[in-house]
Amino acid sequence: MNGGTHGLGMERPHSDAPARHGEGRTAARVLVDLAALAGNYRAIGSATAAEVAGVVKADGYGLGVSGIARALYEAGCRTFFTAFGHEAVELRRMLDDVEIFVLMPRAGGEAHLLHEHRLIPCLFDLDGVDRWIGSAAAHGTPGRAALHVETGIHRLGLGREELDTLLGDRSRRSRLDVTLLMSHLACADEPSAPANRRQLDRFRAVRGAFPAARASLANSAGTFLGSDYHFDLVRPGIALYGHDPHYAHITPRVRPVATLEARLGQIATVEPGESVGYGGVATCDTARRIGVVLAGYADGIPRALYRPGRRFEVVIAGYRAPLFGTVSMDMVTIDLSSVPEDAVGVGAWVEIFGPNAPIERVAEQAGTIPYEILTGIGPRVERIHV
Ligand SMILES: Cc1ncc(COP(=O)(O)O)c(C=O)c1O
Repeated sequence: MNGGTHGLGMERPHSDAPARHGEGRTAARVLVDLAALAGNYRAIGSATAAEVAGVVKADGYGLGVSGIARALYEAGCRTFFTAFGHEAVELRRMLDDVEIFVLMPRAGGEAHLLHEHRLIPCLFDLDGVDRWIGSAAAHGTPGRAALHVETGIHRLGLGREELDTLLGDRSRRSRLDVTLLMSHLACADEPSAPANRRQLDRFRAVRGAFPAARASLANSAGTFLGSDYHFDLVRPGIALYGHDPHYAHITPRVRPVATLEARLGQIATVEPGESVGYGGVATCDTARRIGVVLAGYADGIPRALYRPGRRFEVVIAGYRAPLFGTVSMDMVTIDLSSVPEDAVGVGAWVEIFGPNAPIERVAEQAGTIPYEILTGIGPRVERIHV
């Protein structure tokens, strides 16, 4: 791609920011576009007759669960999934009238917390079922739970044998209030993978045994596989946060939610023959104007982004500029030689990913997926919900 001297005609909302940094804890921030999040929630809803839950584990995929959950709630979301009990408790403190499912309830010790905060465990083995039944009896409540069944991903889930044992045990079944039957797809991001249909068939076969329960199979990618996969409840995560796992850019269209950006801290001309950054792997063939961006791998910019011979561009004031030099813990260096000198100065914001620099490109260049980029945004980076 041409890094070029051309302006991209993009908005320059931050280019006139004051020439200083550190008004937050660091010089990096992630802007979280809550309107885009709500729009994505509605777009997914318009593509399914099922209820759309919000998966907000790992601090809302790294973006700050409080603002995320509130915006989803305002967009109509009334069912949430977290990974752990403590995440669910945090959510309950914010939202009283929603259902909160805990995907990975701890087998021991946590039951009390779940009952106290009206949280619903997604039980995935018989041991967990028995503990939950026992704790429910002690609390004098029905053992309301989701049952997570294994259909082919071979991660969490009751296997066939355990399921048969449960189904054949009337005493256990009568003490368990299965409100949701769920499973999880392994290959939904590959629409043509035979595993999708196989898991669908297995899930359908189990579903008949729990006629009173609602059913849920699809994550974001599963939702985009079509209505066969929707059942009563879909559980998107990543699509809410703006990544289309099919890279198809078809309906429902989702918009980027997160923009990771950092201030330019210094600009200097580096002479021919000199190199920039650790290892001296980026050497100037001609004099170059090098900008130092005040965020590095501790902030979530993957070190793998810079590889000699592979160009990766960030966006500054509407111009593209390639990384030049190894990504450090707190800094990256960029080549501003092609950017007009009067267009940027110290203090300008540099977009690492966002509406003008797709997160998909960052992930691809770093050999990973957008999920890891989002959840890898460093804890010291300020989350700003706008
Ligand atoms: C059980 C379960 N359901 C739904 C999701 C949401 O997945 P995605 O972010 O791919 O939509 C996840 C995320 O890993 C999950 O583990």
